[in-house]
Amino acid sequence: MRLQNKVLIVTGAGSGIGRATSLKLASEGAVIVSSDYNEATAKETAEMIQKTGGQASYVRADVSKPEDIQNLIDQTVATHGTIDGIFNNAGVGDVRSFDEHTPEYFNHVISVDQFGVYLGIYYASKKMKELGVQGTIVNTASIFGYMAAKGSFAYQAAKAAVVMMTKSAALELAEDGIRVVAVAPGFIDTPIIKDGDDFKNFLADQHLSKKLIQPEQIADVVTFLFSAEASAVNGQTVPVDDGFLIFKRS
Ligand code: NAI
Repeated sequence: MRLQNKVLIVTGAGSGIGRATSLKLASEGAVIVSSDYNEATAKETAEMIQKTGGQASYVRADVSKPEDIQNLIDQTVATHGTIDGIFNNAGVGDVRSFDEHTPEYFNHVISVDQFGVYLGIYYASKKMKELGVQGTIVNTASIFGYMAAKGSFAYQAAKAAVVMMTKSAALELAEDGIRVVAVAPGFIDTPIIKDGDDFKNFLADQHLSKKLIQPEQIADVVTFLFSAEASAVNGQTVPVDDGFLIFKRS
């Protein structure tokens, strides 16, 4: 077990990548605090872990609200005695034309996908420093943190910021022994992809395997990043994209 008794928070744990990762981390011995703004699904993930003999609790939190994230960290320490890391994974998708990117809409996407990750980094690292814990922070970026595609303007701005915040935070927190890394998923088969089968097939075609990536495949890499095996990986965002970023489309 690579993560025995490590207390790890997962945001967006009620679905997709967050749920698969919570289950995988727990299977490696981690104590999971399952968090989502959807309380019912956060609870469901915690129960799924408990049913397999793992340890988990749940806390409802909207990652775009400082008071929710502060409370999430406080609840974690109150319940489990410490905090060893956080997976800042909650996010909203964004598929709409540039003309429809009103200031309000832009702000909404940034508040969850960028500000939410900042809040997780800020409050988790503050608490880990206070407790003298040399922990790990993993963020969810995206291939769209690296390249542009039409129709996801705000999302791309946010995800590029996640890539950069991962570097800056690693630099800021290294002297406290806190490691900060990220994953950049390709197209993952989760409910965030709302359109139908034709769109999913189109996305699958962008990968070398011609298949969508499964959330469990992201979970495996995130679990590695939390483990001591990844102790020399710091500040980097690891693409888990089935080759998406390596070649030019015709
Ligand atoms: P999902 O829709 O299955 O899960 C997202 C979870 O985040 C949901 O449980 C939702 O309730 C929660 N959430 C949304 N807004 C929240 C908020 N304000 N506060 C707290 N929780 C909130 O989607 P998926 O695919 O698992 O997404 C997870 C992360 O992966 C996101 O950051 C997403 O941008 C990223 N990602 C997903 C890709 C994909 O193709 N599915 C590709 C690249 C990145």
